[in-house]
Amino acid sequence: MPQTTPKGLQRLAFGGDYNPEQWPESVWQEDVRLMREAGVTMVSVGIFSWALLEPESGRHDFGWLDRLLDLLHAHGIRVDLGTPTVAPPAWFYRAHPEALPVTAEGMRYSYGSRGTICHSSSAYRTAAAGITTALARRYGSHPALALWHVHNEYGVPVSACYCDGCAAHFRNWLHETYGSVEAVNEAWGTAFWGQAYGSYEEILPPRVTPTVGNPAQQLDYRRFADATIRENFRMERDILHELAPGIPVTTNFMTALSQCDSIDYWAWGREVDLVTNDHYLMTDGRRTHINLAMAADLTRSVAGGAPWLLLEHSTSGVNWQARNPAKRPGEMARNSLAHVARGSEGAMFFQWRQSRRGAEKFHSAMVPHGGTDTRVWREVVALGAGLEALEEVRGTRTVPDVAVLWDWHSWWAQSLEWRPNEAHDARERADSFYEALYDRHLTVDFAHPESDLSAYPLVVVPALYLMTEAAGQNLREYVEDGGTLVVSYFSGIVDEHDAVHPGAYPGALRDVLGLTVEEWSPLLDEQRVRIEGPGGASLTGDVWTEFVRPRGAETVWSYADGPAAGGPAVTRRRLGRGTAWYVSTRLDAASLDAIVAAACEDAGVAERAALPRDVEVVRRAGDDGQRYLFALNHTAEDAEVPLDGSGTELLAGAVVGTAAGTPVGTAAGTPVGATAGTPVGTPVDGKLTVPAGAVRVVRLDG
Ligand code: GAL
Repeated sequence: MPQTTPKGLQRLAFGGDYNPEQWPESVWQEDVRLMREAGVTMVSVGIFSWALLEPESGRHDFGWLDRLLDLLHAHGIRVDLGTPTVAPPAWFYRAHPEALPVTAEGMRYSYGSRGTICHSSSAYRTAAAGITTALARRYGSHPALALWHVHNEYGVPVSACYCDGCAAHFRNWLHETYGSVEAVNEAWGTAFWGQAYGSYEEILPPRVTPTVGNPAQQLDYRRFADATIRENFRMERDILHELAPGIPVTTNFMTALSQCDSIDYWAWGREVDLVTNDHYLMTDGRRTHINLAMAADLTRSVAGGAPWLLLEHSTSGVNWQARNPAKRPGEMARNSLAHVARGSEGAMFFQWRQSRRGAEKFHSAMVPHGGTDTRVWREVVALGAGLEALEEVRGTRTVPDVAVLWDWHSWWAQSLEWRPNEAHDARERADSFYEALYDRHLTVDFAHPESDLSAYPLVVVPALYLMTEAAGQNLREYVEDGGTLVVSYFSGIVDEHDAVHPGAYPGALRDVLGLTVEEWSPLLDEQRVRIEGPGGASLTGDVWTEFVRPRGAETVWSYADGPAAGGPAVTRRRLGRGTAWYVSTRLDAASLDAIVAAACEDAGVAERAALPRDVEVVRRAGDDGQRYLFALNHTAEDAEVPLDGSGTELLAGAVVGTAAGTPVGTAAGTPVGATAGTPVGTPVDGKLTVPAGAVRVVRLDG
């Protein structure tokens, strides 16, 4: 069994990407002194250092890295050591220009950045194996080494290459997957538009065509690209396991769809020893802490519920969005601790010291350009103390309430062209259902549609266009065995080859939902429909309507107007010991909440409505009965959180947030490390006060 926690790390991980090669060695001494001051426990090094470590093919220069690892070790800081294979040196590209990836339009990228890789290139594989082997031999038993950090964020910035080498590799992949070319023709439906292939040699990657290309071919190409990248990860991982036994291997994921949508993290979660994730707040006008919670829940789910680690986030603004606001006082700590609440075994950042040169010099860091007499640095030091106070949560697991189904293959299929309504955005539906559950203070696990769902009283299917027969059967059994299911429109429509399931929509779900959809009728921009339900209550939908024919389901809400006026809009079917809800339009937030509330009631999911909006409450529990409650107050008002019994607050006095009464969202208030007068280890009973913008963590008694 490989080790699954960073070797020798006795505390929660706190630190960041450390790129000392950008600085004279005299700065390193100050770095380690400041790391000690901030309570840093682990740093990630060498992620982009290939050109320095191997200045010419086969000639290595490890001197600086030797000195760095020794220095870190002398100061008790653990090392997450990168294999630098995301940034091949210029000499490599000069010798192997074919390893530069090609776009679907046929343009070959140049080098001079990072992540410029054709993953089918055998020259790249050989060179990557070479530097990985050399690093494993040299540092595999270094006492500072805690974790291997393979590559960086596989899947971005290039998610797929379309070169001739990839074309040949794709044909092999198809051959292994399908056997005969006839089977490929069948799976891709090439009878349509005369696309049939007579031999594998005729098959190409889905390069740019004048109008829509074959959807199943495009879907398979995404699978192929993901699998090819994974082959390269495995190759490095296996070298590291062999030459450095006992050191866990990870690669940093980016589970938020907005940050990377090309990687099937369900598959990747099974390949790494420890799941790690990078998360950055998106400035899109929405409540960013919800997107954060969703990414953290998804990461934990990919890890199978086991502890995982946040390997990167930012202390303040990033530099790659159109507008990059600074984090507000206390926001960094709330972000970090929200990840911890949802299962992370620490909080790491990009990066330790803000660069003076290069593309990311305006990206925030733990040590900003302004040095240590800054708000960011003071908050970093306070967070370090806070994480130290939380050491005992290590190894405990976040307690989920409900599940949302999630499948990258379905996302890929849904993003293809020529759908009934471009305004239907599957990601928007997933975000909205998640938000509805978040606002009811429910902790969400994400689950693969074919996985065992029996642990969850409620399962939500936001918009899963692609679902296999097996997934449909799985949901039927889940409901028959007593589960409550909520399904949104445009789910269960096609199979794994993007072929419509035989018969009426929604083929994979007709059975469990007890209905058919005869036709859908998407709405035009600004068009709304009114839906009437029990007691005359009315809801609002837009974007989508359907002509639903109940076949066992009862109509709970009906369309009062719009194309399907008088017909069912929301249905419920009792099946076996459970219930299956179907929602045939895009409901606004208030309307969605009404449906989720009704489903929660069916499922017997606890009412937590007494908690104020934007006060996030999450639980972690250990094998030997320890229970922790994390309460994060994202509002500008102090909040009270009812406690189920008594306990001990672990964080106050160490950290975190804005002073009580300082409005969150103004830069005016001084960030506060300690909330004056509250000692660490304060007993609490019955209720917990969480000051505006602050975080509290309670070890519950009993
Ligand atoms: C991450 C990447 C880091 C850094 C960071 C900036 O995606 O792994 O190296 O670029 O973004 O936000």
